[in-house]
This record gives sequence, structure tokens and C-alpha cells, in this order.
Amino acid sequence: LAGVVIAVDGPAAAGKGTLARRLAAELGLPYLDTGLLYRATGRRVLEGGADPRDVLAAEAAARALTAADFTRPDLRGPEADMAASAVAAIPSVRAALLDWQRDFGRTHGAVLDGRDIGTVVFPEAPVKLFVTASAEQRAHRRWMELRARGVAADPDAVLSELRARDAQDSSRAVAPLKPAADALTLDTTALDAEAAFQAARALVAAKL
Ligand code: C5P
Repeated sequence: LAGVVIAVDGPAAAGKGTLARRLAAELGLPYLDTGLLYRATGRRVLEGGADPRDVLAAEAAARALTAADFTRPDLRGPEADMAASAVAAIPSVRAALLDWQRDFGRTHGAVLDGRDIGTVVFPEAPVKLFVTASAEQRAHRRWMELRARGVAADPDAVLSELRARDAQDSSRAVAPLKPAADALTLDTTALDAEAAFQAARALVAAKL
């Protein structure tokens, strides 16, 4: 399987990260959470006191990323979510992060999860999964995740933030969130993490 690229895309909190990480471990491939690139960029912009929609500030932040940016403790949470989605709508930010993602997967293969892996980053990937679930189910999972981390969140606020972010990610002009024409859709609404992983594994095995 060395050299194989597996694209895992889908909306927020659909369970792509957990699933992609497990697939990578099982297949012996490197794993990249591409959302971290946008989260780290958004964080840098906020830290510099700029608006994440500021094109020049966001592009400069994307170009300045270093490994230390990906291990910051403040990359998750509503503020980081929306800042990531805002910088991700800027074409020059996406362009700055594109080669980085391609280089990561090109040499040894990889499992990458994000929004545009199958459509833009690796359109030639032999396996593309589009992992989705109902907005209510995704919001519930996100709320449980927050609760497990000791963060008290209002379930309605979690659902509306998720919807706002998906709307922004799906409607942007460049690399919007959408399944590639040849993607296999996996709806995890009624599946727990283990069942979702087994379903993904079967889809991957049928393709490779
Ligand atoms: O996957 P995650 O929720 O961490 O991504 C955070 C944000 O980064 C998304 O809402 C989206 O705007 C952006 N993103 C993207 N393309 C990717 C991965 C993430 O636009 N490949």
C-alpha cells in the first residue's frame, strides 16, 4: 500500500478524523489532519490582532506556519473553528497550503482528511470517502466531545455554529466542501465509531 493516497472529506464533526487516523494506522500510512493547517493559520491571524477575513494578514499567516503552530493548545473551540473557516475561504491562503499537503502525501502515500482532498488536493486519489451524518447527530457528538473535555456548551449554540460553518465551507468560491464525483459516501448518522470504521474499511478494501 506504500504510495497510496486516501482522501477523507466531509462536514464538521462527521467523525472523519477518528476514522482517517484509524485507517492510516491499519494501512501503515502517514496521517494528516488538514484542518489543522487552517486552524493554525486562523490562530496566527487572531494573535496578530487582525480579522481572519483579512486577505493579506491571513495569507502572511499561512506562509509563516511552522511545526510549533500545530501543537498549540488553542486550536479547538468555537473561536478557532470560525477563524479556520474564515481563512479557508481565501484563495491565496489555500494556494499557500496546497504544496505542503501534496508533498506530505506524494512520496509515501497518506490518509488525509479535510474538505477538498478528493476534489482539489489529490483529485487522482484511488480511494475517496465522503463521510457525513445529520447536522443534529454531528452537533450531538461535538457537544459530547466538549463535555468530555469539561467545556459546558449550549447544545443549540453548538448546532447553529456547526450549520454556520458548513454553510460557509460549502458556499465559498474556491474548493467548497462537496463530494468528488467518484467519492464513496459513508453516512455515519446511525453508526458508532467502531461501526463507521468497519464500514470505511470495507469500502477501502473494495477499491484497492
Ligand atoms: O476539519 P476541521 O473542522 O478541523 O477544519 C476546520 C476548518 O478548516 C473547516 O471548517 C474548513 O473551513 C477548513 N478546511 C478546509 N479544507 C480542508 C480542511 C479544513 O477548508 N481540507
